[in-house]
Amino acid sequence: MRAGFVGKTALITGAGRGIGAAIAGGLARAGADVILLARTADQLDETANAIRASSSRAEVRVVTADLTDDAQRAKVIADLLSGGPIDVLINNAATVEPLGASATISPNQLRQAFEINVIAPVALSAALAPRMAKAGWARIVNVSSSVVGHPSSMIGGNAYAATKAALEAHSLNLAAELDGTGVTVNVYRPGGVDTAMQGWIRSQDPQRIGAGLRDRFVTRYHSGALITPQESANALLGHLLGPDGGRTGAIWDFGDTVTA
Ligand SMILES: NC(=O)c1ccc[n+]([C@@H]2O[C@H](COP(=O)([O-])OP(=O)(O)OC[C@H]3O[C@@H](n4cnc5c(N)ncnc54)[C@H](OP(=O)(O)O)[C@@H]3O)[C@@H](O)[C@H]2O)c1
Repeated sequence: MRAGFVGKTALITGAGRGIGAAIAGGLARAGADVILLARTADQLDETANAIRASSSRAEVRVVTADLTDDAQRAKVIADLLSGGPIDVLINNAATVEPLGASATISPNQLRQAFEINVIAPVALSAALAPRMAKAGWARIVNVSSSVVGHPSSMIGGNAYAATKAALEAHSLNLAAELDGTGVTVNVYRPGGVDTAMQGWIRSQDPQRIGAGLRDRFVTRYHSGALITPQESANALLGHLLGPDGGRTGAIWDFGDTVTA
């Protein structure tokens, strides 16, 4: 991996496991210092130790916080703004919950999903963007899902589809707003990736989330169609470090990456 991010600092949310952990590792190998954020300290430590072992140059910091909690999110933002620059922001943390028929989903469950999947990334980007624009160079990536391209394909995942669609609309709008500042904003749809999120869906009661939805995820898993977090992270790093690096307002879809 080319060391294209030497001297840069990257904040990766949801970096304790799965796709976020793999993206953090990739950015560190590309030379960035990394700040890893999630709620579970043990998982963050595991990611941090793996990065320290494989990328001796990278400085690694761990921030344990729940981004759905207003006070914790405000503290994270205040700490970031009183520290050094953040050059790369990967808004990756998300939930696929709540799953099930729309009539069974309460407004509170919906609010929780919007908090982590939309409000948190929007708030982080909004807080950091002015300083990024002043510096004249930054990369924001919002991790979405291919469900946005086919919302009817995930019956039982209405909240997830709606939050990711909102995140993509926000991203493209912010990209236009920041155009010319040196701050790019792009969407990454990571493909079907073998992570805890996928495992959690497979473990759910089909009566609650819908047999069709659960069977689809089980079948996909057993067919070997899922990619590894590393493969997905590599594709994103390829965009960030390659000719796409300076683009803004793009939707990078792993599906398109492999067929292009
Ligand atoms: N896996 C797939 O097939 C797939 C497909 C399409 C899109 N995606 C997207 O890819 C991204 C990563 O997914 P993944 O599969 O790697 O999921 P994952 O294994 O469930 O990891 C999610 C990460 O987000 C963190 N997180 C969740 N809620 C949080 C909160 N309230 N505050 C702070 N951190 C929080 C989790 O840590 P804690 O629980 O410790 O907080 C974890 O580190 C998500 O945006 C997801 O929607 C995944």
